[in-house]
Amino acid sequence: MNTIHEQVSEYYSREIKATSDLKTSACCDTDSAPAWLKPLLNRIHPEVRSRYYGCGLVCPPLLEGASILDLGCGTGRDVYALAQLAGRNGRVIGVDMTDEQLAVAEEHRNYHTQAFGYDNVDFKKGYIEQLDALGLEPGSFDVIVSNCVINLATDKAAVFQGARRLLKPGGEFYFSDIYADRRLSDAVRNDPVLYGECLGGALYWNDFTDLAREAGFNDPRIVNERPIHVTDPALAARTGSTGFYSVTLRLFKLDGLENECEDYGQAVIYHGTIPDSPHRFELDRHHLIETGKVFPVCGNTWRMLHETRFRDCFSFIGDFSTHYGQFTGCGGGLPFSKAQEANDTGASCC
Ligand SMILES: C[S@@+](CC[C@H](N)C(=O)[O-])C[C@H]1O[C@@H](n2cnc3c(N)ncnc32)[C@H](O)[C@@H]1O
Repeated sequence: MNTIHEQVSEYYSREIKATSDLKTSACCDTDSAPAWLKPLLNRIHPEVRSRYYGCGLVCPPLLEGASILDLGCGTGRDVYALAQLAGRNGRVIGVDMTDEQLAVAEEHRNYHTQAFGYDNVDFKKGYIEQLDALGLEPGSFDVIVSNCVINLATDKAAVFQGARRLLKPGGEFYFSDIYADRRLSDAVRNDPVLYGECLGGALYWNDFTDLAREAGFNDPRIVNERPIHVTDPALAARTGSTGFYSVTLRLFKLDGLENECEDYGQAVIYHGTIPDSPHRFELDRHHLIETGKVFPVCGNTWRMLHETRFRDCFSFIGDFSTHYGQFTGCGGGLPFSKAQEANDTGASCC
């Protein structure tokens, strides 16, 4: 355990005892969860729910039977939500470095076995920078999630590399984390409270995309973003003009993804078969794909749907034989101005 690990563990075992102890608006409450998820969250033990410190929603669709890993699971709220989505034929493993967090997760394991009718979860103590040390089979996970933890990691490149190694080909890294609109000053980075509150370790967005690409995750897709308000006045004074944002992202382990979105004249048709998404499927904030409608896509989006667990839910039109130039409409640049507007109009986080 290095000094920052010790400091962060201390923060989550002694300083913070409940969601209400946090000093920013980063955390999402159950009220802002979508209607289909609320009954699943309500089945989770109240103590687990009261110690939830996530900053987004990490429950992607189509998880029945999936093998899922949660990096920095805390007391296990997302593990127990995902366990219900994965069902008795799936499994969910949560990893965390803080004993006190894991103890709460384990303490309520029997409660959830009774509530769900099966036990498909496991918790492991470890560092997300050292996933190889956990004895997990490389290439064995369909989906890896993480909720407000990667910013706390001391070696973020190792986290992305480790996650990619553990994913199956076509697997998905779906996570929420905090990003900044600029590189942080040393004063902000070295402040223990700002670090513990998930701000001091936040990556500048463009540095994140470089790191992800170096680890083999090209073309990160943004599902959702919103600005974070530092609600504690003393803390706000220390962050100055830096903008912090909670971003939910999906990265796919796909070899053929290009740096830019390219147009090969391809399209997809969504069949409406994903549970809870009969009318449309939202791949990311630029791709709201209506059921039955021919939807033009770039080569990367085509692969994200054709070479992943989503394949059977779509018909695919075209191939990669002719290139028509760059594809417009998949976004690009700093993603944050839209988030500010959304917040001004009162948009919710999840
Ligand atoms: C902000 S909390 C989020 C917890 C959980 N994901 C949730 O949504 O409630 C951060 C968690 O990450 C864990 N953590 C931080 N850095 C870690 C690391 N390098 N390796 C493993 N766990 C870590 C902490 O112990 C803490 O439980």
